[in-house]
Amino acid sequence: MLSKKIVDRINLQINREMYSAYLYMAMSARQSEKGYNGIANWLMVQYHEEMFHAMKFYQYIIDQGGRPVLDKIDAPELKSDDVKETFKYVLEHEQFVTSSIRELLELALAEKDYATENLVRWYVDEQVEEEKNANDILQNLDLLGENKQALFMLNVELGKRTATIPLNFTAIDPAAAP
Ligand code: FEO
Repeated sequence: MLSKKIVDRINLQINREMYSAYLYMAMSARQSEKGYNGIANWLMVQYHEEMFHAMKFYQYIIDQGGRPVLDKIDAPELKSDDVKETFKYVLEHEQFVTSSIRELLELALAEKDYATENLVRWYVDEQVEEEKNANDILQNLDLLGENKQALFMLNVELGKRTATIPLNFTAIDPAAAP
């Protein structure tokens, strides 16, 4: 059983994860437009990661007998379609998500809600990875420079990214239904 405060805060986090998905989808579209299909692929895999983050919270509320409340998702605001600026924004956005996850963890701890604490610690680790991924790409851009050849190489590299999370969020297994 979750408190109303925890359910509300997780619902807010679901909205932030969905917004993140929307943001990366918009970034992916911009890179596709420019012909950087590999970079677009990386960002679209990131879209799937964010949807998974949202659905993991969603399923947790359901499992705990709570009610997911889906709020409006803001339109993503892209500052630039420049590759380096895009990844700077990815990092900045992930830092924001990290602080949001920390806030949720602090609430779970304050409420002595150990089940939610366990769940949120998974996201704490995930955020280390999310920030590292963006940082690695920015570091590569610094090492390679930002000429056309370097961007082409990065495009090929990022085109290799595949999703490591399940893409089917259907929680109910019909075979297991009574
Ligand atoms: Fe769901 Fe990229 O944090």
